[in-house]
Amino acid sequence: MCGIVGYIGHREAYPVIIKGLKRLEYRGYDSAGIVLYDGEKLKLSKTKGKVSDLEKKSAEEITTNGTIGMGHTRWATHGVPNDVNSHPHYSNSGELVIIHNGIIENYEPLKKELINRGYTFKSDTDTEVLINLIEDVQKSHNLKLGKAVQVALNQVVGAYAIVVFDIKKPNEIVAARLGSPLAIGIGENEYFIASDATPFIEYTSNAIYLEDEEMAVVRLNKGMKIRKIKDDSLVDPYIQQLQMNLEQIEKGGYDHFMLKEIYEQPSVIKDTYRGRLLANEGIIKMAGIEDNLEKFVNAQRIVIVACGTSWHAGLVAEYIFEEFTRIPVEVEYASEFRYRNPIINKGDVIIAISQSGETADTLAAIKLAKEKGAFVFGVCNVVGSSISRETHAGAYTHAGPEIGVASTKAFTTQITVLTLISLRIAKAKGTLSHSDYHNYLAELETIPEKVAEALKCNDVAKQIAAIYKDSPNCLYLGRGYNFPVALEGALKLKEISYIHAEGYPAAEMKHGPIALIDEHMPVIVIAPRQGHYDKVVSNIQEIKSRSGKIIAVVTKGDVQVRDLADHVIEIPDTVDALSPLLTTIPLQLLSYHIAVMRECNVDQPRNLAKSVTVE
Ligand code: F6R
Repeated sequence: MCGIVGYIGHREAYPVIIKGLKRLEYRGYDSAGIVLYDGEKLKLSKTKGKVSDLEKKSAEEITTNGTIGMGHTRWATHGVPNDVNSHPHYSNSGELVIIHNGIIENYEPLKKELINRGYTFKSDTDTEVLINLIEDVQKSHNLKLGKAVQVALNQVVGAYAIVVFDIKKPNEIVAARLGSPLAIGIGENEYFIASDATPFIEYTSNAIYLEDEEMAVVRLNKGMKIRKIKDDSLVDPYIQQLQMNLEQIEKGGYDHFMLKEIYEQPSVIKDTYRGRLLANEGIIKMAGIEDNLEKFVNAQRIVIVACGTSWHAGLVAEYIFEEFTRIPVEVEYASEFRYRNPIINKGDVIIAISQSGETADTLAAIKLAKEKGAFVFGVCNVVGSSISRETHAGAYTHAGPEIGVASTKAFTTQITVLTLISLRIAKAKGTLSHSDYHNYLAELETIPEKVAEALKCNDVAKQIAAIYKDSPNCLYLGRGYNFPVALEGALKLKEISYIHAEGYPAAEMKHGPIALIDEHMPVIVIAPRQGHYDKVVSNIQEIKSRSGKIIAVVTKGDVQVRDLADHVIEIPDTVDALSPLLTTIPLQLLSYHIAVMRECNVDQPRNLAKSVTVE
């Protein structure tokens, strides 16, 4: 959470930073700020609100065309979102300035100590404590900026990605990370420092991702040095070639990133299995799996850890793995797993799922599992992310950048990767018959086309959205493979439209939620032909006899449910195990249209952030 951008070079820094902040706004959007160096002084502007608010405010306050600066878009942790708590923050002398993503956990004792030493504070933030600590270290020991940052960071407990500038050393910027991501774009005698590479992809494709406990001192005309914060050793940086292009991070004619990402699903699902699934030859090739096949084949248990939508993908995977591979699976919220001293036995395989690859709880769960000796496999979307580096092996989803805060294409590509993995293990273990295995491979290959077909329900979804947009509550029901889809449908609705929604296994309805059903309650029932169709039809009848409003997701051509439901949304037919890849599409569209009609900020829902780097 929080997006940071720093620039030092020969370009006007202001437009680089503002544009960069807009691209990082998915990481947090309750306040924003920018500081530029005009060759003599620092010019700062910050405000509660979005980057567009900052743009308006800073147009009056910042007139310099300076070539050094930094900006921040915030998701508040310490201190309410207001102008004062917004970043950047100055040190007491006004000579140092910082932007920070993360949490300094021991900021209170540090602050007390600094107050005793005469420091004063304007904001409630932990960040202002850190910049004054750096200043105090610098002044007490007469240190250069880089050294002062290093000494100060060694006193800090918590997580950070920071960029620091010292007016006394106007040709350099210092950046450091622990637990929060930081990428450095390297141009021709210019450097970009940012939470991810999106702010600089049009300027350079050369990037370094700082590792935890590394810091970089970037000097104009003198290059960059990266050191380990703990022992001061020099690091030989690995320069990556970025694969991203500008088109991928723009809306491309859609009103919202979420809608664009929903429509990208046919192509990104294909991208995710391309080169891995050779259906005609009956082969699945994934390097991370081949290299560790024995571990999976001999696994006594698979434990999946994840949060939010990724956790829902994990639940779908539980059904798939158990059916295909007969390996018992448990799916855990990473936030619970990490704090309950979980039992990890020899022979357990942990799979961590994360779109961003930065989720703090998932990262902590991985570290804990590793400490307990487990083999940990990652399923991530963001290449080079912390989780992809922390795991022993992994497989990327090839969803491309997901910018809408509500996860859509990450979910379906995660299911695609997890399906490929379970099919590969099933083949090695012989737990699927020859014909089933080949049928699944062939069916998976048809999914992108079927998702494209499912997307044609957009108009119907929009009409239904118009009818139910003002409902205060919504219930989502599904069974088997589609129970996690019900949870995911409810999450999508509540996070972007602020309508209270709950997902349940359909048969659980009579153990409680049925009490909620009356003529005002819309119930979205996922009822594809495959799976527990007859049972779900009985559940639909139970809803109908209590006058609930039924919106059913059905297989094309269905007549039985059509007779009972108030509305139906049709999707193409597929096998039960792959049906979540299709049933989830209308639910995404329904949430999207309801949120648009309620005039909610679809891409940046209140209180949320795309990458949850705090616990
Ligand atoms: C929901 C959503 C969140 C994320 C969760 C985990 O639409 O986006 O629930 O799924 O914060 O994030 P990742 O997958 O990045 O670990």
